[in-house]
Amino acid sequence: MNPQDGAVHATTSTAEMITQSTLASFQNTKDPRTKELLLAAAKHLHAFATEVGFTTPELIRLAEILTTAGQISDSSRHEFLLMSDVMGLTMVVDYLTNKKPAGAHESSVLGPFYRADAPWTEMNGDISRQQNCGTPAHFSGRVLSLDAQPIAGAVLDVWQVAGNGLYENTDPDQCEFNLRGRLKTGASGEYSFWSVKPVPYPIPVDGPAGLILKAAGRHNMRPAHVHFIVSAEGYQTVISELFTSDDPYVEGDAVFGVKESLKIEYQLHESAEDEGKYGRPCPFYTATYDFVLVPGRTKQEIAFSAGRA
Ligand code: BEZ
Ligand code: FE
Repeated sequence: MNPQDGAVHATTSTAEMITQSTLASFQNTKDPRTKELLLAAAKHLHAFATEVGFTTPELIRLAEILTTAGQISDSSRHEFLLMSDVMGLTMVVDYLTNKKPAGAHESSVLGPFYRADAPWTEMNGDISRQQNCGTPAHFSGRVLSLDAQPIAGAVLDVWQVAGNGLYENTDPDQCEFNLRGRLKTGASGEYSFWSVKPVPYPIPVDGPAGLILKAAGRHNMRPAHVHFIVSAEGYQTVISELFTSDDPYVEGDAVFGVKESLKIEYQLHESAEDEGKYGRPCPFYTATYDFVLVPGRTKQEIAFSAGRA
């Protein structure tokens, strides 16, 4: 036998012994879910290291990258989540967490740009709160239950980028809460509001998430989308987005957030007749979408019962 083969086998079996010792060290973990997570994390991390022959310099480099992710993060910049987003982990977890029956409105990533307490906006109101922030777009539809009953008083919390690809809170040229608003549905579950047609935009690449994209030769664009959090008493809250169906990045979202049911078409209006009908100068777009909710507890109720309200 080649002595070098023997050395490799000795190392492998020692690594296996360390895996077994590590797993044994977690056996007394009190909380069952924590125990399950720690055991699986150790098992899969060790298997990952063994599969790729992970080296000490690589482990140190990984530690440096994670340190940078911590240093670049603050209350509005969550680099670990961004790394999870570009690794596809956020959406894998979304599919596992938010399984929905057929026909229900599906969830997607929240993203880092949400702001609570957006101004309440009346039916058919306008959330573009300043001039020239994009081509106007009118959104309308209904919030319905799975059995197609209208849900009155449902809340839509909406936010999106302006025509320059920037969210209001990252752009000194936009006013406070521009392109953000909260709306309530009417008696027939109907909603409508004016905004602008969203555009594709880049996610930040000045941190470790950018390193991953660059190493892989991947782009950092998200297809145009409007974010919605839809909630109603007695129904599960849904955090999601609606994507422009013909966007150039719709099949290649940098964070894998697109689901087939979340694609919408925009209709361009250019006629004098449509100007009269909508009371707006052309050109503008319209888009329609019905949000179908599943019975259950709202996010607030879940947070409250877990003592986090
Ligand atoms: C966003 O859509 O706002 C977003 C989502 C994930 C990562 C970065 C941005
Ligand atoms: Fe976004």
